[in-house]
Amino acid sequence: MKRIAILTSGGDAPGMNTALRACTLIAAQRGVEVVGIERGYDGLFDGKVRPLTRATKSTQSGWAPILDLEAAAHLGGSFLGSARCKPFYTKEGRVEGAKALREFDGLIVIGGNGSLTGAHLLSEEHSIKVMGIPASIDNDVGCTSTAIGVDTALNTIVEACDRISDTARAHRRAFVVEVMGRQSGYLCMASAIAAGADAALFLEEGRGEEEIVAVVADAVRRGFADDRGKQRVLVIKAEGIEVPCTKLVRLVEERLQSEIPGVEIRATVLGHLVRGGNPTFLDRMVASRFALGAVMSLLGGETDRMVAWQSALCDGKPTVDRAVTTFSLTRVLEETSAMLTGTSSVIKARVQLMQSAAGVLSL
Ligand code: F6P
Repeated sequence: MKRIAILTSGGDAPGMNTALRACTLIAAQRGVEVVGIERGYDGLFDGKVRPLTRATKSTQSGWAPILDLEAAAHLGGSFLGSARCKPFYTKEGRVEGAKALREFDGLIVIGGNGSLTGAHLLSEEHSIKVMGIPASIDNDVGCTSTAIGVDTALNTIVEACDRISDTARAHRRAFVVEVMGRQSGYLCMASAIAAGADAALFLEEGRGEEEIVAVVADAVRRGFADDRGKQRVLVIKAEGIEVPCTKLVRLVEERLQSEIPGVEIRATVLGHLVRGGNPTFLDRMVASRFALGAVMSLLGGETDRMVAWQSALCDGKPTVDRAVTTFSLTRVLEETSAMLTGTSSVIKARVQLMQSAAGVLSL
């Protein structure tokens, strides 16, 4: 391989830039030029590509990374831009995209569920050599225990909850904090434990509106009971729970007004705040080691696969890094949809863990 393309696609995730830099450096060291496609698969349609390596006599391989990529490696967002590309959902769109990719020997796709589906279809329908790197704050990609961006998002959520807890305690208030994650409750579950929340609400538990209101009311009632002396109640709600925060707060306040006169509950939706920010050490390390696994696998002739981090599944193919294995994209996408429908053992284990944790959270 002489020249490979790389893109970031879907919702951006902190650590994407680290992965771009690492892929570029690792490929350059092996004499392979890396070209960045801008704004995800969209860049294939408008020809928005830029070399990430440039010729130089100063390195052994003859290539050196472009300096602005070096400067961006520790920043959130994506240096190349990212997008959810509509034309790529159609077969005709992918025909056009594949044409633009013919000038490259392979493609690395850094993204989540939809982006990896696009990569798989490019391989299946057009024999493009592809490797996927999972990147999504939602942690909803199958076969990997984490994806680029998850750790940074969790750190941001926990910090936000600490801040909210400061003001909540000053006023003896309850807060419902909504976190992103689309249909996945992972960010909610993991942050609830780390932030010491009183309850966590996530789609995977299958609760209806009435039950959700009851859970929050119960958390507030217990938290503010006279014998507790607690100064704040914190409930973390996943985006996937359809009851809007403001409605939830109103319903709970109405329910508790006679029991706890003057009870005050506030809502905060963290939203996109959680997707930005400099990647943490863990995200930079995972991104860099994913990059090594992905580049080496692609150059070694693998295709239609994704690198995974310390997967619970033991049949991944090892890379040069013992913590990074590869799985076929078909397997990844099957496992991802099982996670979405709740039939995956990973989701069952997460829910089970949270059910045991619920007793501790409510203490
Ligand atoms: O998939 C990442 C994610 O941030 C989800 O958590 C969220 O539901 C979605 O993207 C938001 O998408 P957009 O940035 O298009 O509003």
